[in-house]
Amino acid sequence: MILLDGKAVSQKILERVKAKVSTLAKVPHLVVILVGDDAASRVYVNNKKKAAEKVGIKSTVIEKNAGISEEDLLTIIKDLNNDEDVTGILVQLPLPEHIDKNKIVESISPKKDVDGFTPENVGKLAIGLEPYFYPATPQGILMLLDEYKIPIEGADAVVLGRSNIVGKPMAQMLLRRNATVTICHSYTKGVEDKIKTADILISAVGKKIVRCKMVRNNSCVVDVGIFRDANGKLTGDVDFDFVSPSCGYISPVPGGVGPMTIASLMYNASKVY
Ligand code: GUN
Repeated sequence: MILLDGKAVSQKILERVKAKVSTLAKVPHLVVILVGDDAASRVYVNNKKKAAEKVGIKSTVIEKNAGISEEDLLTIIKDLNNDEDVTGILVQLPLPEHIDKNKIVESISPKKDVDGFTPENVGKLAIGLEPYFYPATPQGILMLLDEYKIPIEGADAVVLGRSNIVGKPMAQMLLRRNATVTICHSYTKGVEDKIKTADILISAVGKKIVRCKMVRNNSCVVDVGIFRDANGKLTGDVDFDFVSPSCGYISPVPGGVGPMTIASLMYNASKVY
């Protein structure tokens, strides 16, 4: 079993991004909007800001309280779209319930949409055109698989979860790399049988779902889940101790997909259109 060391690989990518940023005529400027006081979101936003500083990308965090109106948030984004100094805009999700997330995401200029979440970028990904940005988590996962030279073309890939942030773009990106992709979700029948077929298993569910004896021998298992267990310990979707002995490759939590997502986002934030 080989550990997919996201921490180490992310450092390499951040070094590359830093070197690239130092050659750019214009310093990229990432603006992150944080609405409300979700503790996890705050940690993610801080990590993004720290990473940006490390690679020489200017970053600004705009914090708004949970009561901000949809209209005011749209105005902020419109101003950032028109601000030539700003090259990247990221609205941290989730947003409070009274705000229509889709409306907010749609309002971001596709050329500044470092998350790759706008309809234009999602649509381009789906029809085989080049989006301005690929979503950070799936892109980071592919960077990790590529670093370990894990074959994707022709592989049977199973994606657990169908979120707009991970599951759906992950499936699209694997398909683009000529994998045979199965997406499983809460209505899927016989998930265990499908997991067994995977050469590459990507789990992005947010609860302990992949257990002992479920995975195919020597398969590659990527754990996107991150949450705290009953003892307050950070853990993922995969029962690592029991599953890892049968894997060819497996990503740990923490230290797997998390740091890769940040590095991948910085790669996106270094792109100036
Ligand atoms: N919340 C959880 N993951 C993400 C992400 O990748 N981007 C944004 N904007 N919000 C998130």
